[in-house]
Amino acid sequence: MTTDNNPTAKLRKEESDEKFIEWSKSTSETTYDVVALANNLKRIGHKAPTGLDIGGGIGTYAKSVVASCPDQDVRITVVDPGVDANEQRVEADGVDYVLAPFDATFDSDEKYDFIIFRTVLHHLIADTESDTYQTQLTALTKAKSLLKPDGFIFVSENFYQPWIGTDTTSRIIFAVTSCKAKGIAGLARRLGANTAGEGVRFRSLQAWTQIYDRVGFKIESHDLHPWWGGVMPFWQKLPLLCKDRYQAAQILTQTEAS
Ligand SMILES: C[S@@+](CC[C@H](N)C(=O)[O-])C[C@H]1O[C@@H](n2cnc3c(N)ncnc32)[C@H](O)[C@@H]1O
Repeated sequence: MTTDNNPTAKLRKEESDEKFIEWSKSTSETTYDVVALANNLKRIGHKAPTGLDIGGGIGTYAKSVVASCPDQDVRITVVDPGVDANEQRVEADGVDYVLAPFDATFDSDEKYDFIIFRTVLHHLIADTESDTYQTQLTALTKAKSLLKPDGFIFVSENFYQPWIGTDTTSRIIFAVTSCKAKGIAGLARRLGANTAGEGVRFRSLQAWTQIYDRVGFKIESHDLHPWWGGVMPFWQKLPLLCKDRYQAAQILTQTEAS
C-alpha cells in the first residue's frame, strides 16, 4: 500500500511545469531512457516487478516502460506533487499515482524492485547549498530504504562538467535559478533557464558519484543520451564555466553505505 501520510504537505505549482508536461508527452517506447530501463527489467527477468517513479509527472515514462515489457507484469506507482501534472496524467494498466512530494510525505510499507528518478533529482532543493545537498542525499537514502535487497535505482539526469573545480557549473546554475529577484529571474529565463526563480541543483558526474557512494549505491551502467547536450551554445557555456554537458541514464545498484 502506498500512502501520502500528510496530505496537507506542500504540493507543487511552478511556472516551468507546463514545459515539462509538454516535453513528457513525447516520451515513448523508443525513448533512449525507456529502452535502458526496459532492457534492465528484461535482463533481470522478474515476473511481476514493482517500481516507484519519483517525480513521474503525467506518467508517460511509467506507461512506456510497462508497455515495453509485455511479457512481465510491471507495476509502477508515480509519486509526484505537481498539481498540473496530476490533472493531465495518463491512465494505463500497471500505472497508479500518489499526489505527494516524495521526500516530505510519501510513505510505503512495500519494498520495490526498482525506483526511478527521471530528470527529478535536480528539482529536490532547499534554500541553501548545504541544505540542498542534504535534501538530495536524504531522498536517495529514503529510496534505498524502500528497495528490496536486490532492488536498483534508475536515474536519468543532466550532468554539467565544469572547466574548473568539480561542480562549479552546477553551483552557478543553482545560484542563478534560485534567485527570486525579478530582474535576475527574467534575465535568466531569457537566457534559456526554464526554472529561473524556482531553483535547480544539477551536479557533475563526480559530484553525484560522491553522493551515491555515501548513500551506498554504485553506478552499474551509464548510457549517454544519443544527442542531448551538444546543442548547448558557447555563449551559454562560457558564463557557466561549462566544459561539457550531457544527459545519461544510470542503473545504480546497492553497496553497503559508507
Ligand atoms: C522535469 S519534470 C520530470 C517529469 C517526469 N519524470 C518525466 O520524465 O516525464 C520534474 C518532476 O519532478 C517533480 N517533483 C518536484 N519536486 C518533487 C518532489 N519533492 N517529490 C516528487 N516529485 C517532485 C515535478 O512535479 C515534476 O513532475
